[in-house]
Amino acid sequence: MRTDVIAFAQYGTPDVLEPAATDVPDPGPGQVRIRVRATGVNPLDLKLRSGAMAAFMPLELPHVPGLELAGTIEATGPGVRHLVPGAAVFGLASHTYAALALADAGKLALIPQGMDFPQAAALPVAAEAAWRALEELGLCAGQTLLIHGAAGGVGTLAVQFALARGARVIGTASATDLSHVTDLGAAATTYGTGLAERVRGLAPGGVDKILDTSGADVLGDSVELTGNPGRVLTLADPVAAQAHGVRFSPGGGADDRTADALTTVSALHDKARLTQRIHQVLPLAQAAEAHRTVEAGHLNGKIILTP
Ligand SMILES: NC(=O)c1ccc[n+]([C@@H]2O[C@H](COP(=O)([O-])OP(=O)(O)OC[C@H]3O[C@@H](n4cnc5c(N)ncnc54)[C@H](OP(=O)(O)O)[C@@H]3O)[C@@H](O)[C@H]2O)c1
Repeated sequence: MRTDVIAFAQYGTPDVLEPAATDVPDPGPGQVRIRVRATGVNPLDLKLRSGAMAAFMPLELPHVPGLELAGTIEATGPGVRHLVPGAAVFGLASHTYAALALADAGKLALIPQGMDFPQAAALPVAAEAAWRALEELGLCAGQTLLIHGAAGGVGTLAVQFALARGARVIGTASATDLSHVTDLGAAATTYGTGLAERVRGLAPGGVDKILDTSGADVLGDSVELTGNPGRVLTLADPVAAQAHGVRFSPGGGADDRTADALTTVSALHDKARLTQRIHQVLPLAQAAEAHRTVEAGHLNGKIILTP
């Protein structure tokens, strides 16, 4: 079956993103074919498109970007029993800048009642990464967690998951985003010069664990604040992680936490306690514009594309 997509045939600026058409095979064992209603734009989409990741994750070109979606199931492959055609689902997949996409049924969940497609598409990547990071940090009730980049897509969910575990949370954000972080229930401070002192002021008893979602050269300060690189984890800074003896969690492997993450966001939504901001919803044809906006930074939430 043919589908309209946005693809790039060479690495480069957002201008390499162009409309195209590709084949979507019939779903294989454990797979489903989805009519995509919304897909989220993630920083990794930009790193892959620019070629910045080409040495670690070489792509077969042309490549259709996109890692998360919300939509309705059109067809199911052999062995898929819990999802049926017509069901509205959200989750992780590949090549989601498309009208139709294939996904593993195990990386999908039913969209909870009252959540629309753009809201649902803003959650899977960030929720999986946030959940995995807190698991790998071993965050427990009563501990104090510092999150660098607490107002971002991943940070916003990490704050909520950590508070739900009974941790105390301090989040760093730009000045305009401090109220977003405090509205979530965390203490907040601006990032930049003097950060370690400000954090000590907010947590005189010390910080137990630190999660870096910013990738902004914060690991040295983080090791100093916890006194132990084993209490720090980054999702965004693999090179500095090696230099500081800090764990980098790349995702995409056997440690995948999609099922737990989707269950958790659904439960928070059902209790009316879930927040994930959306900066903008754009037609899929404006994917290049979306990438330029993400590259410019300082967004108030995720950008969602709708085919
Ligand atoms: N390893 C994995 O499995 C995995 C999974 C998902 C995402 N990631 C990575 O995690 C990172 C965050 O993803 P995201 O979707 O949350 O991106 P995002 O929504 O752009 O969030 C990044 C946040 O960091 C803030 N920030 C910028 N400079 C900072 C600094 N010096 N200190 C503290 N915060 C700072 C930004 O604030 P302002 O814009 O206001 O400056 C923004 O709120 C990306 O690098 C992404 O590739 C990794």
